[in-house]
Amino acid sequence: MTNRIQLPPTAPGARILGLGSYRPRRRVTNDDLAQTMDTNDEWIQTRVGIAERRWASDDETLVEMAVAAGGKALAASGLPPEDIDLVVLASASLRVPIPGIGPQVAFRLGIPRPGAFDLNAGCAGFCYALGMASDAIRAGDARNVLVVGVERLTDVTDPTDRSTAVIFADGAGAAVVGPSDEPGIGPVAWGSDGDQFTAIEIAAGSSTMSMAGQAVYRWATTKLTETLVAAMEKAGVGPADIDVFAPHQANLRIVESMTKRLGFSDDTVVARDIVQSGNTSAASIPLALTALLESGEAKSGDLALVLGYGAGLTFAGQVLVLP
Ligand SMILES: CC(C)(COP(=O)(O)OP(=O)(O)OC[C@H]1O[C@@H](n2cnc3c(N)ncnc32)[C@H](O)[C@@H]1OP(=O)(O)O)[C@@H](O)C(=O)NCCC(=O)NCCS
Repeated sequence: MTNRIQLPPTAPGARILGLGSYRPRRRVTNDDLAQTMDTNDEWIQTRVGIAERRWASDDETLVEMAVAAGGKALAASGLPPEDIDLVVLASASLRVPIPGIGPQVAFRLGIPRPGAFDLNAGCAGFCYALGMASDAIRAGDARNVLVVGVERLTDVTDPTDRSTAVIFADGAGAAVVGPSDEPGIGPVAWGSDGDQFTAIEIAAGSSTMSMAGQAVYRWATTKLTETLVAAMEKAGVGPADIDVFAPHQANLRIVESMTKRLGFSDDTVVARDIVQSGNTSAASIPLALTALLESGEAKSGDLALVLGYGAGLTFAGQVLVLP
């Protein structure tokens, strides 16, 4: 017996082995919304860039959507469920604080007794979870990790509040992360601006979200460029190396503003999944990446820059090799 702590062997890097997503069945157009509130297609398309979004039906619960997206990511990775030993589930719209749903999602997917927990970092949740998954694998604490971002933001949105109801939507995305000799996930650049904790919140006594839209817009278009640059610098790459830019799908104008500031090459593919999906918070980045891979606009091996940001305020980004 030794009285010294032993550490497990570590992996040189981690990478995404497979991605999957789930889009709720029900499509809601801007004209549908104009039936129930004082808004119109032109305003929404011009200010936010959304043409339609998906709203979950009663049976499309957080658990069901997470299981659907997680199952597809597992299938795409080629790994059997028993090879997963950690599940990190990111969500900002959990309605029940106890218990977390990570363990239940793992059980439903047939993953035997993994470490499993939920994480709330607002719309940055997926990138926070991805950073933790990569670190757990590189440290030897996990062999393979299932990361899920899942939201039913319609549960926490006032359907009559036109400043939020036209923006937020539902869905799920997932990634299986495993070890690799060549790093496929760069170091995370993350942080928070907690002085702006009321900018996106469910205030005490309320059950629905309020948002200081202009303050969030200003913050996203001015303060986050440095985080995107930091994520690239930490990974040792520059804008000209980025094949795919997939920031959180919060607002098409924010996507375009970030794209312009960073100066990518003309060939860089920019994710604009918000047009069809609305803002799905922690699910938006894996939803956007799977859409780009499915359409053929992005391909396996592409270098992608991702950035999540939102309530907290929180932000996190990294450079990834697409599976
Ligand atoms: C929310 C957001 C689209 C609002 O756009 P904006 O240009 O700031 O609009 P304002 O709130 O100043 O409102 C402008 C006018 O449009 C009106 N308006 C607001 N929502 C509307 C809607 N859905 N339809 C029609 N008109 C609307 C306002 O009442 C206001 O009218 P007024 O000038 O007569 O007072 C914009 O601030 C934004 O995208 N912010 C970032 C939000 C975000 O990304 N959040 C997620 C982060 S994870």
